[in-house]
Amino acid sequence: MPGLKTFGLWLVLLAGGSLAPHAFAQDGAIVSGRELFERVWVPGDTRSQGGDGLGPVFNARSCLDCHNLGGAGGSGGFERNVEVMTPTATPVGGNSGFGGFSYSFRFGDNGFEPSVGNSLQPTPRDVRLDPVALAAIHPSLKSGKSVMLHALGTDQGYRGWREKVPGIHGPITIMVTPRNPTPLFGTGLIDSIPDSAIEAAARKRHTGFPQVRGRVRRLADGRVGRFGWKAQLATLDGFVRAAAAMELGLEVPGHHQATDPRVPRFVDPGLDLSEESTAALVDFVRSLPAPMLQLGNGNREDIEFREGKRLFRGSGCATCHTPNLGPVDGLYSDLLLHDMTPRVTSPGTNPYLAFLNGANLQQPQGREARPTPQKGDEPGLMEWRTPPLWGLRDSGPYWHDGRAETIAEAIRLHTGQGEESATRYRGLSSRERRQLESFLLCLTAPLPE
Ligand code: HEC
Ligand code: HEC
Repeated sequence: MPGLKTFGLWLVLLAGGSLAPHAFAQDGAIVSGRELFERVWVPGDTRSQGGDGLGPVFNARSCLDCHNLGGAGGSGGFERNVEVMTPTATPVGGNSGFGGFSYSFRFGDNGFEPSVGNSLQPTPRDVRLDPVALAAIHPSLKSGKSVMLHALGTDQGYRGWREKVPGIHGPITIMVTPRNPTPLFGTGLIDSIPDSAIEAAARKRHTGFPQVRGRVRRLADGRVGRFGWKAQLATLDGFVRAAAAMELGLEVPGHHQATDPRVPRFVDPGLDLSEESTAALVDFVRSLPAPMLQLGNGNREDIEFREGKRLFRGSGCATCHTPNLGPVDGLYSDLLLHDMTPRVTSPGTNPYLAFLNGANLQQPQGREARPTPQKGDEPGLMEWRTPPLWGLRDSGPYWHDGRAETIAEAIRLHTGQGEESATRYRGLSSRERRQLESFLLCLTAPLPE
């Protein structure tokens, strides 16, 4: 990493303060939780308690496969991206008020990539898709919401079947978007933040940045969502159970394993993980130390850090990447959803993507795109939770789909509510940009035990 080498001696400070959860690290449950986190599962695994082990559908064989950069519990590389499918209405021919465009698909390694041409009109976003037709494409799609498209199946035929799911099925188009594995360091602390702190962050207004308005992700059961790129889950316990069931296909208490879409009636004969083992896995994740702040102790480095932090605030980064939230210091996130839909007038904006997000393309030029209210509380396609920036140096690749290799690239990608910040960043001198980056590079994964 550039920047890093410029620091001589390191001064190590723990982010998160007195709540650091790794005090329990020697606990027996945590040792067995770690073993489960690292365990490479196989179909019919002997470790299973009467269940079918790995699968029938899965994305990898162990938690560690996807959470290993910067140590066990870190983020995952681009190749570990998980795919999410979203049904949309297939655009039909005609002349739109917007001016009209067509699109084409490329189903390469990166999934769905629309490109814009001309002459076709998109179907309005609120057209109801037929649940029967959706279920015929993939049983998990019948609700019409985004669901996971598993990469692998224990059965040989799965791969070939799965490849036919993305794309056009008559009136329905299945769009596939990737999600990059997030780091798990300090998630125990995130779990401890009271809902009221997240709700208070949503009420906050920011002088000079009126467009920045985060919203609380309210789940169907009323709880506040805070984990995942869409803040789709409320608790660490719930996320770990869901990960075991969905990523590895393990039957665990509280979450059924993912079903093979071709054999939707198959029921696992038993549990793959007992309650005790599942709880140990949760405890292990909870025990992962929080990321750190690593500072050089030379004068020059300290000045760069201080200047960088000042520029971070001055560019409006801290309006969303809130340095402290509730009892947790050094998080750099408000855990809120932000609408990142590019303004139609932005140079380089892809209008088809903007359409997919429900932006109103017929609004007068230059007016701010307002997020379309969602049914229930489903986030829009380009609404994302502010990712905590702690541990940033070691958590690349960046962005929800891992498309940004560097921090600078990630900053330039900010649109919608983050656009003003990205513009200010572009306006900095190259020296100031380097200072801002030096500050961000001080946010590192915890030291290995
Ligand atoms: C195939 C790759 C893959 C595997 C295997 C995997 N994960 Fe993940 N994990 C992800 C991705 C991708 C995300 C982000 C998902 C999202 O937000 O939509 C994630 C997110 C998480 C989060 C939420 C973190 C946060 O701050 O929001 C937790 C907790 C988690 N994983 C735990 C686990 C555990 C425990 C296991 C093993 C049972 C596991 N994961 C296995 C890919 C994986
Ligand atoms: C309006 C809120 C907002 C503002 C302002 C904002 N960000 Fe972000 N930031 C986000 C969101 C939301 C994402 C995730 C977007 C995605 O993945 O699609 C993000 C992602 C990032 C990432 C990638 C993190 C990762 O783990 O992948 C970095 C780095 C980042 N922001 C830094 C900055 C900096 C530096 C600034 C100021 C120049 C800034 N952000 C301003 C909301 C904001």
